Amino acid sequence: MHGMFKVAVLPGDGIGPEVIAEGLKVLRAIEEVGGPRFRFQAGLVGGCAIDATAVPLPPETISICNQAQAVLLGAVGGPRWDSRRPDNRPETGLLQLRQRLKVYVNLRPARVIDALVGLSALKPDRVRGTDLVIVRELMGGIYFGNPRGIFSKNGERMGVNTEVYREHEIERVAHRAFQLARQRRKKVTSVDKANVLESSRLWREVVTRVGESYRDVELEHLYVDNCAMRLIDRPTSFDVLLTNNMFGDILSDEAAMLTGSIGLLPSASLGERSGLYEPVHGSAPDIAGRNRANPIATIASVAMMLRHSLRMERAALAIEAAIEKVLKQGVRTPDIPGRKRPVSTTRMGNIIAQETVKLLKSSRFHPEPEAS
Ligand code: IPM
Ligand code: MG
Repeated sequence: MHGMFKVAVLPGDGIGPEVIAEGLKVLRAIEEVGGPRFRFQAGLVGGCAIDATAVPLPPETISICNQAQAVLLGAVGGPRWDSRRPDNRPETGLLQLRQRLKVYVNLRPARVIDALVGLSALKPDRVRGTDLVIVRELMGGIYFGNPRGIFSKNGERMGVNTEVYREHEIERVAHRAFQLARQRRKKVTSVDKANVLESSRLWREVVTRVGESYRDVELEHLYVDNCAMRLIDRPTSFDVLLTNNMFGDILSDEAAMLTGSIGLLPSASLGERSGLYEPVHGSAPDIAGRNRANPIATIASVAMMLRHSLRMERAALAIEAAIEKVLKQGVRTPDIPGRKRPVSTTRMGNIIAQETVKLLKSSRFHPEPEAS
């Protein structure tokens, strides 16, 4: 007999509800084969929350998230809310949620599976073997620094944002990156702009100091412009890529293209207690409601949730293996190159859920929570 996990579910806007429905299917599949029970509590965030309550992150959503062991989020935003002031846009809801949950590290893995090397925007020889994780600082930097605003000076308006990093903010995310590298190929590439920015000089200094406690992990520093180039030129040279909030936002979209579709990439945002799981892609209003979205990024985010928040590594591996198998068989949603007759969102979700059940029934993947 297993326990019960409470999961806060925030579908959000655009394709969010469609992809979340497929993520939940996989959790139901795990229940079916005798895993733990999941209790889902739905909450509003983003544009749908603005429509219903006038704010993008209502207090009720915060309390649902605080009572849950993990939070699963779809996507936020859309043209309907684009004209709003920055402090009351859908995206603000997501940024506030990251702050409220104190999730300061964002993991964004990008792995090119051998059989799918042809999906990449790059030539196969260049991209084959790519397996990296971006470790993005998520609670600081220019996203949150003060002063910020649009001010008037000498009869002209000026837009101001401020990049701020305190030592402890750099330290805690750096530790996470080095610890992760120890479980992988033992290399950290720290990315900054220390040739121009003071915040980056401090970043480099603190990361170097933290690295001294991880002598078994190789540490290199790259300027962000050079890193953008090397991600295309030699993507296999990265293992763990550690960087700040802004650079991580940009580089993770670039890294997504190495794998072929941003619709494949999951993310986990972690703090000391909470975990927030969401696909890397946005709300894709152009295809919302048409059963065309790729649910794989969300389903893979569910796998990360099982791994990082619920200690169910075997179930996480089963989902990841199911995704890989289905992709290898040539099943494709329209965003993935290489198939004339793509399947719908719900069909992709059904196939992966069925495959997960099959794998879980084989003893290798039996979904028991691991002993702590
Ligand atoms: C992401 C997104 C968000 C970010 C937006 C929606 C606020 O682009 O998670 O990468 O910039 O962090
Ligand atoms: Mg982004």
